[in-house]
Amino acid sequence: MEKSIVTPWEVEGEIDYNKLIKKFGTDVLTDELLDRIKRHTGELHPFLRRKLFFSHRDLGWILKKYEEGEKFALYTGRGPSGDTHLGHLIPWIFCKWLQDKFNCDFYFQMTDDEKFMMRPDLTLEQTHAFAYENALDVIALGFDPKKTFIFSNIDYAKTLYKISIQIAKNVTTSTAKAVFGFKNSTNIGIVFFPSVQAAPCFLPSFLNEKNVPVLIPAAIDQDPYWRITRDVAPKLGYYKPAAIHNMFLPGLEGPSGKMSASKSDTAIFSVDSPEEVDRKIKRAFTGGGQTIKEHKEKGGNPLTCTIYQYLYFIFEEDDEKIKEIQDGCKKGEVFCGECKTLLSDKLVKFITRHQENRERAKDVLDKFLLKD
Ligand code: TRP
Repeated sequence: MEKSIVTPWEVEGEIDYNKLIKKFGTDVLTDELLDRIKRHTGELHPFLRRKLFFSHRDLGWILKKYEEGEKFALYTGRGPSGDTHLGHLIPWIFCKWLQDKFNCDFYFQMTDDEKFMMRPDLTLEQTHAFAYENALDVIALGFDPKKTFIFSNIDYAKTLYKISIQIAKNVTTSTAKAVFGFKNSTNIGIVFFPSVQAAPCFLPSFLNEKNVPVLIPAAIDQDPYWRITRDVAPKLGYYKPAAIHNMFLPGLEGPSGKMSASKSDTAIFSVDSPEEVDRKIKRAFTGGGQTIKEHKEKGGNPLTCTIYQYLYFIFEEDDEKIKEIQDGCKKGEVFCGECKTLLSDKLVKFITRHQENRERAKDVLDKFLLKD
C-alpha cells in the first residue's frame, strides 16, 4: 500500500477521505447540512448531491449567520503555475453556484508570489502572466462583475500586506513547521507565505469595515491554511473562516492521486482543443476488463474507473442514467467505448462553450480586478 500524502504541496497515492477528515480534524458534510442548504437554494448542486464536496468547517455557523440576515462572502484561489485544468475548475464552478444562490461577494486570490517562490523553474514574469490567463477561466464561468474581486498577490500587495503582517505576527515558526512541514532549507518567503494566503479570509471585513463571515470552497489539501487562520482570527477580532472541501479529481491515468498539470497527457486543460480532449478521453484508464471477452464474463469496476468518476461527479447529472451505467458496467453489458464516447461528447461541449466565454472574458477582465 502506497503511503498517502496530503500537504498543500503534494498530493499522491490512494486517498482515504474518511482518514483525511480525521487527520485534518474537519467535519463530515452531513445530509442534515445538505437539507439545510437546500432550504435556501431550492435544489442541491450535483457536486453536493454526489458528495464531491464531502467535508467542512463551520458550515452550520455560516448558514446560521445567513439565516440571521448576515451575508457571507466566498473566498478561493489559484496558484498560477500553468494552464487551468478541470480539477481546478471544480471549486470555482461551485462558487459561481453559491454566488447565485446566496448572493455572495466572491474573492479570488492568484498566488503568483507563492508559485514564484515555490518553483525554481518559474520566473516572476511567468507566474504573473499565468495568473491573468487563469483569471480568464474564472470569469468564463459567469461570475457577476459587481460582486467578484480577483487579485494577483503581486498587484494587490499593498492592501494584502497590511493584513498579512498582522497574521504573521501571531504565528510562530514552530507552528508553521508543524503544520506545513517546513525545513531549515525552506526559503523564508515560503515560510511567510501562509500569512498571505490567510489574508483574504479577513479581506471582506477589512474592506467593508465590519465583520463579514467568509466561506472557502477549496480542495481539502488547502485546509492547513485555514486551520492556522482560524487560530489567529479571534486575536485580530475577526470571524474564523468557514470551509467546504472537495475531493480531488483523478488524472486520466488512474483513480488515485489528483489531476496534475505536470502530467499533461492525463489532465484536461481549459485550453485543450476538442480533438485533444477526445484523444485524452479515448486513451484514459478505465475499470473495464482487459479484453471484451473478459469484460463480458467478469464485468467492470466503475469505482476504479476514471471515466465513471468524471461522469458521476461532473458530467452525468441524471441519477437514472448514472445507475444504468454503473449496473451495466458491473454486469459487463456496458462497454468502455460507450462511456468514453458519452464523456467525450459532454466534455467537448463543455470545453467549447468555456473557450468561447474565455475569449469574451478578455474584454471584461478589468471589471473584475482589484489592484492597488
Ligand atoms: N495555494 C493555492 C494553490 O497553490 C492557491 C490559493 C490561494 C488558494 N488562496 C486559495 C486555493 C484559497 C484555495 C483557496 O493552488
